[in-house]
Amino acid sequence: MKKFFIFLSICSLTLAQQKTIEERVDSVLALMTPIEKIGQLNQYSGGFDTGTKTADLKTGKNQLIREGKIGSLLNVIGANATRKIQKVAVEESRLKIPIIFGLDVIHGFKTTFPIPLAEASSWDPELAEKTARYAAMEASAAGIHWTFAPMVDIARDPRWGRIAEGSGEDPYLGSLFAAARVKGFQGNFSSNKNIAACVKHFAAYGAAEGGRDYNTVDISERTLREIYLKPFKAAVDAGAVTLMCSFNEIAGVPSSANKFLLTKILRDEWKFDGFVVSDWNSIGELIPHGIAKDLMEAAELGINAGVDMDMQANAYITSLDELVKEGKVSQSRIDESVKRILKLKFRLGLFDNPYKYCDSLREKKTIQSREMLDVALEAARNSIVLLKNEKNLLPLKKDLKRIAVIGPLADSKRDPLGPWNQQRQPDLVVTVVEGIKKKLGNSEIIYAEGCKITDTSKSSFPEAIEAAKNSDAVVLCLGESLFMSGEAHSSASLNLPGVQEYLAKEIVRTGKPVVAVLMNGRPLTINWLSQNVDAIVEAWFLGTESGDAIADVLFGDFNPCGKLPVTFPRSTGQIPLYYNHKNTGRPYSHQNRFSSNYQDLDNSPLYPFGFGLGYTTFSYSNLQLINDRLQKGEPLKVSIDLKNTGERPGVEIVQLYIRGITGSVTRPVKELKDFAKVSLLPGESKKVEFEVDTEKLKFYDIDMNYRLEPGEFKVLIGTNSENLLESPFSVVE
Ligand code: NOJ
Repeated sequence: MKKFFIFLSICSLTLAQQKTIEERVDSVLALMTPIEKIGQLNQYSGGFDTGTKTADLKTGKNQLIREGKIGSLLNVIGANATRKIQKVAVEESRLKIPIIFGLDVIHGFKTTFPIPLAEASSWDPELAEKTARYAAMEASAAGIHWTFAPMVDIARDPRWGRIAEGSGEDPYLGSLFAAARVKGFQGNFSSNKNIAACVKHFAAYGAAEGGRDYNTVDISERTLREIYLKPFKAAVDAGAVTLMCSFNEIAGVPSSANKFLLTKILRDEWKFDGFVVSDWNSIGELIPHGIAKDLMEAAELGINAGVDMDMQANAYITSLDELVKEGKVSQSRIDESVKRILKLKFRLGLFDNPYKYCDSLREKKTIQSREMLDVALEAARNSIVLLKNEKNLLPLKKDLKRIAVIGPLADSKRDPLGPWNQQRQPDLVVTVVEGIKKKLGNSEIIYAEGCKITDTSKSSFPEAIEAAKNSDAVVLCLGESLFMSGEAHSSASLNLPGVQEYLAKEIVRTGKPVVAVLMNGRPLTINWLSQNVDAIVEAWFLGTESGDAIADVLFGDFNPCGKLPVTFPRSTGQIPLYYNHKNTGRPYSHQNRFSSNYQDLDNSPLYPFGFGLGYTTFSYSNLQLINDRLQKGEPLKVSIDLKNTGERPGVEIVQLYIRGITGSVTRPVKELKDFAKVSLLPGESKKVEFEVDTEKLKFYDIDMNYRLEPGEFKVLIGTNSENLLESPFSVVE
């Protein structure tokens, strides 16, 4: 009878549309026992593991759900599988609170889109918003409510494998992509095609020492705020409803126990009103970090710092009740977390219809639809960066008689899918060999693998050399395997793995024109290639439609327009190498031995941030400032003339950087503040105009106040971060 009344009261709550979500949350909270409350803060994997083995739930989860001890499950996939579990929650537990199902949908679900680093090369946040929206459509049809994405960590170290999952090294570009993906995933929660985003990993996870995953971070508060936190703030401002804290420590404080990050910055300053989930067992890891003696203390530190949900550590569910009784954690702190989690369940509409995302018919229709694949193709084409094109080797002619497609990635169906896609469907992938064959009906395509990605043997070289010799041009596909980047895949060397460079040397020795196509999750050190092959196409991991997109670029059906979102170093010894570095008191100079340099290597990158070619050329001239003395609140108005000086229509990404010359603290040598994607026909010119809000000129001054400081600045505009026209201006009181 009691149960019946509770059920009735929840139903009437959920039907009472006139009530605000907050009121409905409060009414549910009022019905909950202490254990049911703690249960909402508890998340387990209900399927495969995406981290070290910790809490094992494969059996027994239904009983825990019945007892109200699980608020969320990750890694359960499928309309039917999620429906089954949801049924237990809403039909067999006392309060019938629905489960929220989470999954890492990082670059697509079944249809795989380019890895985020590749998508950032498009400099087109709207495209990322679109792929996020489509990924959400597909994942939501398979019962998923919540993705652990976007990953917005700034990465200045390509040894760090997770650089593949983010948008590169720049806080401005990264912020635009962060906000776009949040919008794409979440929409406005108006339908069951939207899923909740989870911005991760809060914070500075990408600043790991030595590029080693999970490693220590020790950066200044200024760098934290100006570089690493910027994309998080943008994502929160875009409406992100959840955040994941990171594994690393910053200056002695692991993020899962970091009050400064999780309470002061996130709640007090940014007014974030969603919830924070830990990373996989990151609360448990407070023990090896050395700040908690046991799981009980770890739970206390986590909840009191502001982590609302415990992913997989088993810490909250085993300890919070006791901690409240001992007075170490307040009931109100727990209630606050419960409310945040319930609020999202209401926003997703799960109280009104817990099976809203469990429609197997929709699942069948949505997954891998033609529309989905078209979006994947559009994204893949726009993510490609042309790094070199000597003597205009590219685009290749479509009437070549014989083309050799060589290399371990030339016909791989798995690797182009990239690191983060448990749902990957290799069968669906179009390889480079297949893409070229589809495009060229009349040419002979000779495929030779040459070697495996990590081979130490050169035994298959002869076949590849023969193929090259018998061809009119060679497409040489080199790079990494899908598992060489991503989580727990840091690399000490950025050279091409195995004997691939030797293979390239042999192929080049045949004297045939060679186009290298790189497929990789991070910048590689490709000095030899850049000096010795005629053309280099950086294709990253482009996902399902890889081969079609690459063939479109190789044969000129798509004019590449991507630009690097990250610096390519010449050597790992230069790392960290990023464009927005400081000038130092002894800026680098060839002539001055006592300048900040290496005795054995140039300071410059192999390819700078923002670099990328196309099949036409552009000239920049006539940089004009409308106003060169800015008052506070007055935007900088600046224009430049851009001309397509080549023979094909093309798209150029015009980049605007600012340099603060003087200030109370030192400033980077340049900072990206705006860009424009401009389409021009051959011979056509355009005046490209920018208005830079003075808000963008603010920084943390000597007293850590974020403000606009009067002083001298420069504006720099051009085709990449090193090839720029510049003009001075000042900001006056
Ligand atoms: C650990 C990873 O760091 C995180 O990015 C991911 O979302 C979780 N595992 C869940 O799979």
